[in-house]
Amino acid sequence: MMTKPARLVVLISGNGSNLQALLDACQDGRLPARVLGVLSNRGDAYGLQRAERRHIPTLVFYQTGSRAEYDADLAELVAIFQPDWVILAGWMRVLSMNFLRHFPRRVINLHPALPGQFPGVHAIERAFEAYRRGQIDQTGIMVHLVPDEGIDNGPVLVSRTVPIHPDDTLDSLESRIHAAEHELLVDTVRRLITGELEPPGTNGE
Ligand code: GRF
Repeated sequence: MMTKPARLVVLISGNGSNLQALLDACQDGRLPARVLGVLSNRGDAYGLQRAERRHIPTLVFYQTGSRAEYDADLAELVAIFQPDWVILAGWMRVLSMNFLRHFPRRVINLHPALPGQFPGVHAIERAFEAYRRGQIDQTGIMVHLVPDEGIDNGPVLVSRTVPIHPDDTLDSLESRIHAAEHELLVDTVRRLITGELEPPGTNGE
């Protein structure tokens, strides 16, 4: 019996290259899933065009009232799609429990640094600077659960190191990191969907 494709909702704020990786993987069968909706907090997020090209419903949702209201309303919108997984792929807002409590162990985030290193914005730039100061000799990426408002520090699902080379520029490092992210995100979502990877806490841990 064919199992039903997993239902994904993707939240973005910008370029959407990771969204594109998910869309491509759904299309070519690497990912047994469908992206049902793409939501952005910015109207100029290029990822919206990527979704529209694939005829996927998009929604731009601006904050007008309080943050608490925004998050609760956003949760209502996302819930319409009945997602199995909510994927933060370059979503540049911290989500409060008003959102997160509606999707326990179902919200995942991608961050371009190793666990515990460079949380928050400009992580790649900060890693590059740290390398040049001799403080680190490699960097990495991770996919983690988002159980609370902690910034880029939820339970790690998968992380991977990414080398930094002496002749790297910020651009070359960014390209290497993004390519690694595209692969890791698709693979992690696939493993979650197939049950190969169990989100921490699902066994009463
Ligand atoms: C990625 O580096 C991701 O790790 C971070 O934001 C970036 C999004 O890139 N959270 P894109 O919009 O998917 O191209």
